[in-house]
Amino acid sequence: MSKKTIILGIESSCDETAVSIIEDSESGIPKILSNIISSQVDVHKEFGGVVPDLAARSHLEKIDLIAKKAIKESGIHLSKVSAIAATAGPGLIVCLTVGLNFGKAMAASLNIPFIGVNHLEGHALSPKLHSKLNYPYLLLLISGGHSQYLIVNGLGNYKRIGTTIDDALGEAFDKTAKLLGIEFPGGPQLEKFAKKGDPNKFDLPKPIISKGGCNLSFAGLKTAILRITKKIKTNQEKFDLAASFQKTIEEILYIKTKVAFQEFRKINSQDESSFVVAGGVAANKGIREKLITVSKENNFKSIFPDLKLCGDNAAMIAMVGLEKYKVKQFDSLDLAANPRLQLDENAKFLKGAGVKL
Ligand code: KG4
Ligand code: ZN
Repeated sequence: MSKKTIILGIESSCDETAVSIIEDSESGIPKILSNIISSQVDVHKEFGGVVPDLAARSHLEKIDLIAKKAIKESGIHLSKVSAIAATAGPGLIVCLTVGLNFGKAMAASLNIPFIGVNHLEGHALSPKLHSKLNYPYLLLLISGGHSQYLIVNGLGNYKRIGTTIDDALGEAFDKTAKLLGIEFPGGPQLEKFAKKGDPNKFDLPKPIISKGGCNLSFAGLKTAILRITKKIKTNQEKFDLAASFQKTIEEILYIKTKVAFQEFRKINSQDESSFVVAGGVAANKGIREKLITVSKENNFKSIFPDLKLCGDNAAMIAMVGLEKYKVKQFDSLDLAANPRLQLDENAKFLKGAGVKL
């Protein structure tokens, strides 16, 4: 019997310290042997957002313990691990360095390959942990720092066809939640607020909705919310505003995804293609439902990561590690963290005032 590939993944790009062990399987869908995630919500709550130095210190304090837990829970001996994969970027440099250095030290002491992983590629491949997925596919990546439509042609082969020109969608959720007085991290809570409100109460703007292809913009929406929150007084009005925000986002994504489908089909003409929605915001149920609808209407097969794999985790980092291991894409131990790592390095920078769409 041939030896199965086992990858230990490490994630520390922002405020989650995570270690996971996955094993390759003949079915093509790897087995997650352990997936330990330690969130720092309590560390950052009182500051209303992630404080980089506190985040880095917390990673340093916990990484050893989290790794031990992941190894214990997997039931495998460290000598069976084939390679170590760790997030190399993008993210907070002080945080990335902790996981990266820990991973390099493990690889060196076990004398096995080390693989640096692009965190965004982790999100992009996360559905491969439970579904068969063939290249090329269309990806909508919606997280706290990124909002992009990409054509995924293969491992490390991405073409960006749309991006936000200002805030990321997760950021828009978090900022709106803050304006509504919801505790950090507000994004997931906002959806619960929205369920209690009237989505038609407030008419909110949909920036660049009929121009700019499938590029996105959310900053104008935040300004409108700020203006309204100054006038509203009751809790019911807050619920109504949350519901109106949720509905507006769903409508923006419905329209822009249709444009992205057309762009994808100009290049790839299969009858039924796959549409993957990944990143923290992919956990939003209303957004999921809307994107399932638009996919059905346009003959795309929609695929979402399991809810526990939408947010930051190390299983997705191990998943990329496994794909890279198969093609022997290893890194040397002097690989530096890159806080600005992209998926499509050729894509134009599209942020700030005066951007031409
Ligand atoms: O992918 P992720 O865990 O971290 C980054 O790589 O950024 O995404 C975190 C983002 C946060 O902005 C969070 O508020 C948002 O995802 N998020 C949600 C939901 N769950 C997480 N936004 C809206 N609805 C949710 N249910
Ligand atoms: Zn992420």
